[in-house]
Amino acid sequence: MSTLREKHVLVGVTGGIAAYKIAYLVRQLIKEGAQVRVMMTEAATHFVTPLTFAALSKHPVYTDLWNIETSEERDITIRHVKLAHWADIVVIAPASANTIAKLTHGIADNILTVVTLATPRPVLLAPAMDVDMYINEATQQNLSRLKERGFYIFDPPAGELASGLHGKGRLPEVEALVEKIHDILERTPLDFIKKNIVITAGPTYEPIDPVRFIGNRSSGKMGYALATAASHRGARVTLVSGPTQLQTPRGVNRINVETAQEMLNTVLKHLRTANVLIMAAAVADFTPSTVAKEKIKKTALTQSLQLTLVPTPDILTEVAKKKKKVITVGFALETTNELTHAREKLQKKNLDMIVLNSYNDSNPVFGSDINTVTIINRWGEIEELPTLPKIEVAHKILDKVKSFMENR
Ligand code: CTP
Repeated sequence: MSTLREKHVLVGVTGGIAAYKIAYLVRQLIKEGAQVRVMMTEAATHFVTPLTFAALSKHPVYTDLWNIETSEERDITIRHVKLAHWADIVVIAPASANTIAKLTHGIADNILTVVTLATPRPVLLAPAMDVDMYINEATQQNLSRLKERGFYIFDPPAGELASGLHGKGRLPEVEALVEKIHDILERTPLDFIKKNIVITAGPTYEPIDPVRFIGNRSSGKMGYALATAASHRGARVTLVSGPTQLQTPRGVNRINVETAQEMLNTVLKHLRTANVLIMAAAVADFTPSTVAKEKIKKTALTQSLQLTLVPTPDILTEVAKKKKKVITVGFALETTNELTHAREKLQKKNLDMIVLNSYNDSNPVFGSDINTVTIINRWGEIEELPTLPKIEVAHKILDKVKSFMENR
């Protein structure tokens, strides 16, 4: 049976010559059993009429925030919220440079941007535009920020464009779009609804003096991918984040911390209501025993600077002391005897699961968008995953958490 049967697909059409292809997309989605609603920007209506989509989707098309005539429920004030929550997935195709820029900055000035800002569900963007607009740094930066926030972006294929130019910027074939929609819906069942998940991410900074700190190379990408994936699967996510440059995933409650001690305090505060704790943060193991009140001056030193470091609290060990029902997932980064060390950590920290990062030249872990991991649970079951994008690794980890929850 198609994954699309009875699924609610909300299609957003923006102004671009490829808009005509979306008529085929809507038809195909309906053929596969999906319920489709269409919303259009004003620019899109210059390329295809709303009537085309109304006839295909057998439903009025949303083109205007203010026109109550097209509203089923005649309730103009909350229509956009209802639509945003009605959707299992929002597909914006073609996504113009203008709409991409608006979504990046939270500008909500038409039905499409308002609904997209309000939806908690996955959003797939299929950028389609002229190659120079697509490769423009402004568009590229906007797309990478949206990707960090958990938007799915369909990398546009290269080929001949409507302008006559050649390059990237074509709308993908309808079949490829349908397949991507299938994949996303399959990946994001609402199987964590009503579950509270606390996820830690990024490094911690341990201060030496007012301007210096001890940190590490963690980018936070793995923890943020987990937060995105969990949020798409319906969880209420609290992301306890060390300093990173990353955008907060949509729908996620992010709490910024700096030190290991602050991270511990925040995790403990949220533990009472948590169903799952995933410690993806690279917590510093040591912190300076004292923090200099003033900046340490070079002139005050003779040959070398001695810092005395003391251990930080181990967050997972502290959690284990209080642990009741919460499922705990740790991470391990090892360079020798990887499996043995990871198993030792699992036992020592009383974890339900540990994710072992393989650290080698082909899997740099830090800062990378891909990862190679092995997942081990407290029953000794091991699964070695191939190298995958971090968002895919995140979903695999959540799959394991889910089956652990059901079988314990
Ligand atoms: N961790 C923690 N509190 C710390 C240090 C680490 O909760 N103070 C967590 C990490 O978030 C990770 C797991 O413990 O989920 C393992 O971290 P890792 O640094 O690999 O292990 P350590 O216990 O620090 O041991 P070592 O550095 O000696 O390998």
